[in-house]
Amino acid sequence: MMTHEDLLRYVDGRPVTLSSDPGKRVYGERLLNIGGKEYREWSPHRSKLSAYLCLGGKCFPFTGSGNILYLGAASGTTASHLSDIAVSGRICCVEISQRSFRDLVDVCASRKNMMPILGDAAVPDGYAFAADDIDVVYQDVAQKGQADMLADNMDRFSARYGMVSIKARSEDVTAPPERIFEKARERLIERGMKILDMRSLEPFEKAHAMIVVEALR
Ligand SMILES: C[S@@+](CC[C@H](N)C(=O)[O-])C[C@H]1O[C@@H](n2cnc3c(N)ncnc32)[C@H](O)[C@@H]1O
Repeated sequence: MMTHEDLLRYVDGRPVTLSSDPGKRVYGERLLNIGGKEYREWSPHRSKLSAYLCLGGKCFPFTGSGNILYLGAASGTTASHLSDIAVSGRICCVEISQRSFRDLVDVCASRKNMMPILGDAAVPDGYAFAADDIDVVYQDVAQKGQADMLADNMDRFSARYGMVSIKARSEDVTAPPERIFEKARERLIERGMKILDMRSLEPFEKAHAMIVVEALR
């Protein structure tokens, strides 16, 4: 069994993941040979989860065997790196846009632990058939009400950990981002979550913050 350190490493302060689909790029990322193994550079400019790690984020609930519910998978950029890490787990990738979903299906085709689901993250019952035994819910849908959407999905699937990238402008274009992030934090506490970390994703993502929670149930 690979250790976590083998699956996710840092090169010059930037994360890289051990490719589970050697020779293939998902979004034009650099491929690196480290000790005879192929790693994929995880760009903080293309992935908020990589930005979180590059900015010193340490709360990383993803393991080699955990199951992940990924809401807002788009064309699979970040999800493909989680697929490299959760080698014996499963990543249920929910995406609402048919256009992005077509690209997502291509990425999932050569990664046996990634499952594409065309669905709406606001309606968890719509994909409950595919998402059982979930350990972590990761959410990046860039729409209003992200804190409640995360909590609803964590409750629905009894997930212990949650991670959400809050986009301030999607919640309210007029309010200062810090106030929006604080409201999201308070809402998650009201919903029975313990806040493990909250940090701005600037300068990689303007007016975005990552919040990591653990369910207190
Ligand atoms: C910022 S992009 C996600 C980027 C992706 N997480 C990554 O890092 O590779 C947001 C995605 O969420 C999707 N989305 C928006 N609302 C959604 C919903 N209610 N359910 C599922 N996906 C949704 C959008 O279609 C878009 O592809």
